[in-house]
Amino acid sequence: MDPIIAATHSDPYPYYAALRAESGLSFHQGLGLWVACSAHAVAAVLAHPDCKVRPAHEPVPKAIAQGYAGKVFGQLMRMNDGERQRCPRSAIQPGLEMIDAETVSALVRARLISLSADGLHKAMFMGPVCVVAALLGFTPTEGRTLSELTADFVACLSPLSSPAQLDTAHAAAEHLNGYFVERLSAGDHQSPLLESILQRMADHEALLANLIGLLSQTYEATAGLIGNALLALIRNPHLKGEMQRAPARISDLLTEVQRHDPSVQNTRRFVSAPCEIDGASLKPGDVILVLLASANRDPQLNDNPDTLILDRPARRSFTFGAGRHQCPGQTLALSIASATLSEILTHTGALDQLAWEYRPSLNGRIPLFRER
Ligand code: HEM
Repeated sequence: MDPIIAATHSDPYPYYAALRAESGLSFHQGLGLWVACSAHAVAAVLAHPDCKVRPAHEPVPKAIAQGYAGKVFGQLMRMNDGERQRCPRSAIQPGLEMIDAETVSALVRARLISLSADGLHKAMFMGPVCVVAALLGFTPTEGRTLSELTADFVACLSPLSSPAQLDTAHAAAEHLNGYFVERLSAGDHQSPLLESILQRMADHEALLANLIGLLSQTYEATAGLIGNALLALIRNPHLKGEMQRAPARISDLLTEVQRHDPSVQNTRRFVSAPCEIDGASLKPGDVILVLLASANRDPQLNDNPDTLILDRPARRSFTFGAGRHQCPGQTLALSIASATLSEILTHTGALDQLAWEYRPSLNGRIPLFRER
């Protein structure tokens, strides 16, 4: 096991506990990077001004720098520090926070969920992107196309992608851009979310890239949240009955699952200046793997951290990050996942008919289901 394999391992949590027992922040010789695993170290790294989201020498990964996906990547707030992050963030965050759970639930209910594993796959991956597309004023048909293009585009974010997948990602980025150019030129004032963003953002290129970013940030992480909640129900069958009797409990389940078994297990930071963090001396060029999922299980952060407790008092979690880049889509993601799980439980039969494996990834923990 290593901290990257852990993300898609069947049970990485004892390994994370062993890492925490050794040190909160230590250098992993095999991977050649620092690993932050305690709640204290994770919080310190995410808050540190010299820990950036991209290495200074490579703001856009070399593998995509020459194509359209690279152009979009270079403008994403998620992939920038300084003005290029603050400006789009301050334009987009208020609109995301305005979205209410009932609007989201109505959008999720409007989509059909079929009973097969394929139906589940679509509900997990395509459904959430369709909801965000609808909130941005796209039609359901456009939403379906956008979710397919998003699936192709996110390949550019993973170092595991093949050259052919990267080519497809460039083409998808260009298509997504085209859809947003048309959406903006319609000027129909149909979407309160889009209107709120437009009022606050003048840079057209950064706007287009960060609108694409809303779809790409939604795609895998929300699928993983829904999938990991389904796994929690499969592993704890008594909870399924409880959810069906009292659907309001579904949001309690999701709030605990996002902490207990997060879809985003880790993120990275790149050191830009000499600094001391949690007793370690770091130098420019150092890379830190930030184990969000391990910090969530740190007894310093949550009592009895390995137990799934739906009514957990004072729950604390790093799943949505912390500090400057903390996820602005957290409430929306939880609303989409709650509404989707509720639909799945209404429409699907026995969950124990499902087998699963985790989708290959360096940081995402996303189960892919199939029929046994
Ligand atoms: C369960 C679902 C989700 C999870 C677990 C998640 C997690 C995260 C995490 C950990 C970060 C920070 C990464 C870092 O600091 O290195 C982040 C950033 C971000 N997320 Fe989410 N996210 C989810 C869903 C969403 C959704 C639905 C949206 C929008 C519609 C969204 C939009 C964003 C954006 C725009 C950023 C970049 C913020 C910035 O850099 O200032 N996320 N997310």
